[in-house]
Amino acid sequence: MKCNKGLCLMLGMVIMLSMGSSNLYAQVRERLLMNFDWKFAYGHAGDVARDFNVGTRYFTYLAKAGYADGAAAPEFDDRSWRPLDLPHDWAVEQGFAPHASHSHGYKTVGPGFPENSVGWYRKNFSLPAEDEGKRIFLEFDGIYRDARVWVNGFYCGNEPSGYASFAFDVTEYLNFGGENVIAVRADASMEEGWFYEGAGIYRHVWLTKVAPLHVPQYGTFVTSSVGEKQAALTARVEVQNKALEVAEFELVNVVLDPGGQEVARKSAGSFRMAPMERRTFIDSLDVADPLLWDLEQPHLYTMESHLLQNGATVDIYRTTFGIRTIEWTADKGFFLNGRHVKIKGTNNHQNHAGVGTAIPDALHEWRLKQLKAMGNNAYRTAHYPPTPALLEAADRVGMLILNENRLMGTTDQIMDYLGRLMVRDRNHPSVVLWSIGNEEWSIETNDRGARMAEIMQAYARRFDTTRPLNAAVSGSWGGGISSVIEVMGYNYLRHGDTDVHHERFPWQPSLGTEEGSTNTTRGIYFDDAERQYLAAYDRDTPTGFFAIQHGWKHYASRDYLAGMVIWTGFDYRGESTPFTYPSVLSYFGMFDLCGFPKDNVYYLKSWWSREDVLHILPHWNWPGREGEGIDVWVYSNMDEVELFLNNKSLGRKTMELNSHLSWEVPYKAGTLKAVGYKAGQRKMTRVVETTGAARQVHLRADRTEIKADRRDVAVVTVALKDRKGRTVPDANVLVDFDISGPASIIGVGNGDPTSHEPDRFIPSYLRVEPAAWKEAPAGGLDVAAAVRPDYDDKSWGAAFPEEGLAPGSQAEATVFRGRFALTREQLEGEITWMFRSIGTGQSVYLNGHLLAEGLSDEQKRHTFSLPAEHLSVGSNTLVIVAHPYVKNHVWDEPNVNPGELQVVLPAGQWQRRTFNGLAQVLVQSTGAPGEVVLTGKAEHLQDFQLKLVAQ
Ligand code: GAL
Repeated sequence: MKCNKGLCLMLGMVIMLSMGSSNLYAQVRERLLMNFDWKFAYGHAGDVARDFNVGTRYFTYLAKAGYADGAAAPEFDDRSWRPLDLPHDWAVEQGFAPHASHSHGYKTVGPGFPENSVGWYRKNFSLPAEDEGKRIFLEFDGIYRDARVWVNGFYCGNEPSGYASFAFDVTEYLNFGGENVIAVRADASMEEGWFYEGAGIYRHVWLTKVAPLHVPQYGTFVTSSVGEKQAALTARVEVQNKALEVAEFELVNVVLDPGGQEVARKSAGSFRMAPMERRTFIDSLDVADPLLWDLEQPHLYTMESHLLQNGATVDIYRTTFGIRTIEWTADKGFFLNGRHVKIKGTNNHQNHAGVGTAIPDALHEWRLKQLKAMGNNAYRTAHYPPTPALLEAADRVGMLILNENRLMGTTDQIMDYLGRLMVRDRNHPSVVLWSIGNEEWSIETNDRGARMAEIMQAYARRFDTTRPLNAAVSGSWGGGISSVIEVMGYNYLRHGDTDVHHERFPWQPSLGTEEGSTNTTRGIYFDDAERQYLAAYDRDTPTGFFAIQHGWKHYASRDYLAGMVIWTGFDYRGESTPFTYPSVLSYFGMFDLCGFPKDNVYYLKSWWSREDVLHILPHWNWPGREGEGIDVWVYSNMDEVELFLNNKSLGRKTMELNSHLSWEVPYKAGTLKAVGYKAGQRKMTRVVETTGAARQVHLRADRTEIKADRRDVAVVTVALKDRKGRTVPDANVLVDFDISGPASIIGVGNGDPTSHEPDRFIPSYLRVEPAAWKEAPAGGLDVAAAVRPDYDDKSWGAAFPEEGLAPGSQAEATVFRGRFALTREQLEGEITWMFRSIGTGQSVYLNGHLLAEGLSDEQKRHTFSLPAEHLSVGSNTLVIVAHPYVKNHVWDEPNVNPGELQVVLPAGQWQRRTFNGLAQVLVQSTGAPGEVVLTGKAEHLQDFQLKLVAQ
């Protein structure tokens, strides 16, 4: 075929555009997950020397670009640090102490624990030479907290917030075709919240590679207006020209339906942008017969924004979005796609058993699914921007998100966090409400609060007008923030009268942003103040918080109230109200910290879900209480329920809407049976039986297959069963876990609020610094004697004098002697000397045994694994015979540190007690495919082997 140049160019363009865009996408844009193979070590919040001397050098990183020192320097020797993968929460690995923070669950991090409050992370990575010319961004989804970041010794900046996502364009700092180092310092000394917040890089890290002309991160905003048979999309696409030349380009937006089929394509036009210019282009596209994003069928569309230069695609940016309508009304509540949806929600913190805040993506999804199965349709991200992974899961699962800002404030710097949250999250169809703040006690009731709310709302409208703004207010409703906020959030009915407020502010949509705050312990049915357990019956609290049923009846019976959001879906660490230490978890959850349902879940499921529910509480193992009246409750959405004890009817009762039934039953071992009737017909039966003693460990995973991707997780329930296979509801037994195959255990839990058992069993990485180095010239010494540990070196001077060897001087052979001490426990570990050359022609000895000789200075680092048979408890001696480096210029800094020892103590046995019959094990792929076997063992009980497949 013959064609002129223009036509050929056009054809080429068409071909490139239609050649499976996923192929093309991979060619123009890469987003690499940077979670694997980091190094970690504790720094120090109050002692620079123990914080790797960062910022101590003459001319440091704030003085000159690329001048990082200590652990921030690229050449820093991190070989003795602990290797790990992200996400990571070091607080969850700490123990507990009574004087530690109540808010943070008494973990030994924060004020009073400077040695546990700073964490350093380093990662090496190489970049291919072909990446030269691309722009490269380092993106953090969130670090707790006050993060400082360096790349190859260049200081990139800091992010004080423990919840904000942030990114740096690090292109100029990188070595293309070479090695690169990221260093991150996180300082968790301060608390941002009054709840457990974790510590460290507890969310994902990414490296994004794009062309100089590209759509920046979060650079798009797709909105839709939904008509009869089509949706009109508005695409706002920001383009950035980071080239040094003017860029001429065409922007083409392509819409893919949930199946990946192209359903719309349009050129937004051809444009010219100056170097460093950033501009937003607005275009409209139509989608015929759109599949709406909804709770049951959360259809997701993708918009691809293609940038073309001279006919070639230079960037494709993908935006996942949903087509749906939302409406918040003052008198009828909330509407999704024109359909009334009562908000049935829970508040939740990012916190789970075993892993703390470092929740893998699969676990986020699992948690949302537990909530969803309860009939929960909304999730308030109390009280901070969530991790993007949670929103992606909510988009997929079909969950409404009430997305909350952390701190209220009206300075540019503080308000900017709200703007960044909105820009980051505004394409998620799951997000239906923005919250500017929660219970801001000093301002919520007064005029200052009202003014601040107005300013924040006006500011927020710059970023999104498709969702309204909310604040959660805990009192003095009618004044302050509550008088101006677009969607009123009531925190707790005990604080006021929603009817009165609604009458005064009839224009204002509203919902219960918090209700509940009741305190229960899973599997406990008698309060036990001494052991700090509270019965799982749904009750008003002595401090005036309403029972879940009490609160729900209020919210369910008023149309103007959009719904109720319970405090909380899951228990979390910290806030162990009404107790203090030794209790370390909250008691507010409908589910415990592991996601095991407490009985309230069945109350909610009865009235929130469409499933038939019939649930009896308590369990029926009450030896010693024979004849005693026990409160038996039934949660159900049947019309009537009849209860039987050992086949004797205790009466048939009619269920009232949004209520429960109860009987007082004199205890006698045997069977409690509930029979549920609908429209007079027997519909379902449930039994609770007195079980026998625990006989076997039983393991069950949420699924039998996980992806072999080093990320995917199976959630394993450990249950103790009796001879008949019934879970024993009061069995508290220590279970050991072993795993083989390509997976590892990443955490264990049991939901017991007073348990101080470890969540993680990991090797300890200790660093032992040889000290008291002395030196003497080798000439005139009996070197063979001087390398022995018992040699008397009292008369020797301190090694490595400040001034070093003068320029031009001869480096005489010198003997250096240093010492380190080991405890008996440390001697059990693996001990490695991370040796660093201090000169040329080095021979190296441990307690008189030669480790190596003739080491040149060319390879400056050597690793010596120190054999246990040559080590002793107490003092050990290291000797180096070498020609030390000469200091040729005053600014020369020859190495005078022969390196430290790494002592690795093996991880303890993975284990956990069951709490009221249950425990949990989180199993994560280690990357390879294969069969995984998890074994659970307990004394006197039958073992269990669970098989999973990683592929
Ligand atoms: C609320 C607060 C929540 C939680 C709860 C406990 O006042 O907003 O974060 O602390 O009390 O009852």
